[in-house]
Amino acid sequence: MFKKSWFVILLVLASLLLVLAACGGSEPAAPAEEAAPAEEAAPAEEAAPAEVAPEAVAGKVGIILPTKDEPRWVQDEARFKEALEAAGYEVEILFSQGDSAKEKANVEDLITKGVKVIIFTPQDGTAAAAAADAAKEAGVSIISYDRLIRDTDAVDYYVTFDSLAVGAQQAQYLVDNAEGTGNPLYLYAGAASDNNAFIFFEGAWSVLQPLIADGTFVVKNSSEAVALADKAELTREEQAAIIGQITTNWDFNTAKNLAEANLTVATAEDKGNVFILAPNDGTARAIADAFAADSDVTSYLVTGQDAEQASVQYIIDGKQSMTVFKDVRTLVNDAINAAIALLQGNAPAASGSYNNGVVDVPAIQSPVVTVDRNNVQEALIDSGYYDAADFTGLE
Ligand code: BGC
Repeated sequence: MFKKSWFVILLVLASLLLVLAACGGSEPAAPAEEAAPAEEAAPAEEAAPAEVAPEAVAGKVGIILPTKDEPRWVQDEARFKEALEAAGYEVEILFSQGDSAKEKANVEDLITKGVKVIIFTPQDGTAAAAAADAAKEAGVSIISYDRLIRDTDAVDYYVTFDSLAVGAQQAQYLVDNAEGTGNPLYLYAGAASDNNAFIFFEGAWSVLQPLIADGTFVVKNSSEAVALADKAELTREEQAAIIGQITTNWDFNTAKNLAEANLTVATAEDKGNVFILAPNDGTARAIADAFAADSDVTSYLVTGQDAEQASVQYIIDGKQSMTVFKDVRTLVNDAINAAIALLQGNAPAASGSYNNGVVDVPAIQSPVVTVDRNNVQEALIDSGYYDAADFTGLE
């Protein structure tokens, strides 16, 4: 399966070279079929372009990622580079370092340099609208990458994982491992400035809510969640009220401090065998460390997402219970596919859409996989995503 996706990436890159060469010359752009969805691409031999100098294609696509401080986005950078450099194609990747002003400056920099498509993960989904508007005004297409840019019509396309499934799989893991009633549940969420934090929470709530309502779980750290326990579907405002109490802001220190504050307020009866919904791997490790250090906590189950290397080691060591694996190679492939279509003046193939507050943005989304100790070898090592040598204690 992974071999296939590499094969597909190479095909897509071959098409990209062809298309970009065509854009730069007097030849008409290649027909849409050549940039068709990956599964339909022709064998590599047929798709390989004639000698196209990398200079002919450089500078047409730029990439903006939110921060280098989280392994998740460094991973995306590495996977983009692997994919693009394999085809001899250099692409500028700029990081916003958690700062929307820097992010806008980065977008303006790419516009000045003459890119035609920006693959863009916003630091703050709403604040990024101004940068997307500036790109649109300059005739540059925007692909929202992993996180949706909100409240603007300047987003052409969205490539994402199935974020609802991420939250649902995290919650399902807790549910599958709970017995009886009165199980203490601690909820944590991502940053309220990230649209995904709402989708992850919505997915988790859809699975947890009936079991909070029937007493299987008792939420210990959010009075808003307790007050809404009987509501299966929450409005965005209601979600925001809960997230406001349990946000980690996607920050390890904030996560650790919040978990410690929750544990300080909780009584010994609120602890024991606890269940923790942690939104991603970085925050999961921080929260897990805080719970592990509390002597009233007998055992804990904690979720995560991203299959970050450090969390995979935590899972092997029994310090994190699960992660949701999002194969970044697929997202990179989807983004490049979309860039090719947009450079040709075509609409990228979409399997649905996401409303960003102003428009329905055509989207394609990739599936995600639950990984725990039982399938870590198969899902992450045998698949070639990581090397066994990156870890200790693998069986
Ligand atoms: C991404 C996650 C990531 C989180 C924090 C989310 O938008 O989907 O993969 O862990 O942001 O950066």
